[in-house]
Amino acid sequence: MLIGIDKMNFFTPNTYIDLVTLAEHRGIDPNKFTVGIGQSKMAVPTITQDTVSMGANASLPILDADDLNKIDLIVVGTETGIDESKSSASFIHQLLNIQPFAKSVEVKHACYGATAGLMMAKDYIKAHPGRKALVIGSDISRYGLNTSGEVTQGAGAVAMLISENPRILEIEDTSVSMTESIFDFWRPNYRDTAIVDGKFSNEAYVKFFTTIWEEFSTRSSYKIADFKAFCFHLPYSKMGKKALLPVLENESQEVSDLLLTNYELSTDYTRNIGNIYTGSLYLSLMSLLDSDDNTLKANDLIGFFSYGSGAVGEIFSGRLVEGYEKHLLKDEHQAMINNRYDLSIEEYEAIFTKELPKTDGIHPLSEAKYDKSHFYLSSISEHQRHYNERQ
Ligand code: CAA
Repeated sequence: MLIGIDKMNFFTPNTYIDLVTLAEHRGIDPNKFTVGIGQSKMAVPTITQDTVSMGANASLPILDADDLNKIDLIVVGTETGIDESKSSASFIHQLLNIQPFAKSVEVKHACYGATAGLMMAKDYIKAHPGRKALVIGSDISRYGLNTSGEVTQGAGAVAMLISENPRILEIEDTSVSMTESIFDFWRPNYRDTAIVDGKFSNEAYVKFFTTIWEEFSTRSSYKIADFKAFCFHLPYSKMGKKALLPVLENESQEVSDLLLTNYELSTDYTRNIGNIYTGSLYLSLMSLLDSDDNTLKANDLIGFFSYGSGAVGEIFSGRLVEGYEKHLLKDEHQAMINNRYDLSIEEYEAIFTKELPKTDGIHPLSEAKYDKSHFYLSSISEHQRHYNERQ
């Protein structure tokens, strides 16, 4: 049975900071941000966008009535959940009006969570042909103002409908995961911002890719030259290239050029949004497919590297399905990125430092000047989050 991604979409808040503006304000050469790190713009969410609202906003455009009746499983991968007990998936289940006899769970391992959800969904569909699963990766990446990680923040969500006979990408069975308990990036429960050992995190990422690739190529018998593209978890647009370049060293010029060209296409959305943590790998896939000019064909093999600090990694492969290009939301994605509000430094810092109320009572929230999204957090009432739909 062929199982994989039947539909997919992403959401990013409609406010961003231009990174040249940020670099100049911080007294840093803008080329460090735009060339050295490879980021142009960074999504900055208002307090009315969180893991739930972004996940629901990403999902809404891809689900029809048949999907809502057939989804049995909703998995949200996130490392920036909004409750230590109640899952964001349960809120999203209600906001999207999915049939009641579904299970809704949140899974966590840093930026790896959505991949865990995808693999869980694939196994579920294998055991329950005809049913569907909704896999979401939704996060707000925060290191803090004036930190070295500041330029690699971002926010957004991806949503993928997983089914048999998928219309976009078939996910193959061989995949290799690896776990090693390290402290390259982490966020204790009492902190809003992540702690990171930047250089070590880069090294760990590359080591995980190289080590898993060796095992994956042995188990799958695939060689680099079998792939038309590799999609990476992209904390910033240069990161995946640091892992890809060493494995291209012994490849022909033709193979190397193809994989590097497609790598660049896969980084476009990240370059303009920033790190969206768990959804990042799948944002890379959407960037690649939306930007490709009809060179990728049905049955082409795509490699995927998922990396979650702390650390868990996984490499798997997928094949494009005949007619996949008809099921992409390219125009909608590009409009979302192009029609955003460009924040001034003062607005960025004010939005970044604004906190949600933590006291008893009823607290209506409004950021109508900035937040134009369909679903948004409208109030916190006796510590319960309530969401509204913009009509
Ligand atoms: N012009 C052009 N390039 C310049 C430049 C200039 N004026 N100044 C510096 N550069 C280049 C540097 O040479 C360097 O390039 P290389 O990486 O190719 O060597 C690049 O810009 C970055 O410079 P630094 O290493 O000096 O930057 P930094 O010390 O400020 O830290 C960072 C960069 C480590 C990415 C930091 O932003 C950070 O810690 N970010 C968060 C952690 C992260 O994203 N880690 C990635 C792996 S972990 C992961 O993937 C999970 C996750 O999502 C967090």
